[in-house]
Amino acid sequence: MSQNHTKLMWNENFYPWIDTRLSEEELIFLNHAISEENKENISKSLAGNISKSEQIKDKDDWLWNTVFKHITEKMFYRDWDTYYKYHIIQEDPLPKFEMPGLWVNYQKQHEFNPIHAHTGLFSFVIFVKIPTHWKEQHALPFSVESNTPVASDFQFVWSRKNEQDCCTHSFSLSPEDEGRVLFFPAGLHHQVHPFYGTEEERITVSGNIDFLFYPPAYAQPELYIYKREEGDTETAKETQEIARLKTKKREEEYGGKKREEEEKRRKKARDRQGKE
Ligand SMILES: [Fe+2]
Repeated sequence: MSQNHTKLMWNENFYPWIDTRLSEEELIFLNHAISEENKENISKSLAGNISKSEQIKDKDDWLWNTVFKHITEKMFYRDWDTYYKYHIIQEDPLPKFEMPGLWVNYQKQHEFNPIHAHTGLFSFVIFVKIPTHWKEQHALPFSVESNTPVASDFQFVWSRKNEQDCCTHSFSLSPEDEGRVLFFPAGLHHQVHPFYGTEEERITVSGNIDFLFYPPAYAQPELYIYKREEGDTETAKETQEIARLKTKKREEEYGGKKREEEEKRRKKARDRQGKE
């Protein structure tokens, strides 16, 4: 995450995340996406020490267009330097964004998600099913005497420049939080504490947002090397076809713009991201 976009947000009175809710309609869409069969298990690529994480599809980019495109732009331009650069002096063309990752997490009691951050520009978590209430969790015998009861909490962790202490902010969750969305800079570390006393699963959906780049892999699908299990050629072919269609879509979207220009813009954005 580029600090360019968050540096002004890190102060006492302003948290660098957006706390919002999905509408009924958006939750129905999400639950439908979760219930699709044959989803790919992506646990190995995630930090969670939890039962299962599966990739889900945002059919027709509905969730992106309905919810996250707007929140992304709101978050991106709320930094004054960024707003000034793109909207006042118009130094660069307005960037485009995409949601390259969307997945569902199934967490059982005693499982946890250690401190970690995501890649890209922004990330989010949606609390879809919370089977416990924080009041009961914090009252468990091993938490109740603590000066920091956090059983079942979602927590952000960060540090400030030239300060020794780490800051934390906990979200104590209950079924009332179902549909709640926390949208945050991808580099903001966070963790999920375990819950106890129920066989029911906790379900959350997470996603990542990034600049819409023009990856050479998509531009030249024949060079796209997809490494999977041996003999999984069918999936590799499918992936290549997806890459080809994405290339076509992006070619259309960018019209006559020269690839070199796009590469230049991409490199610039990458350099900016590298200055964390
Ligand atoms: Fe995460």
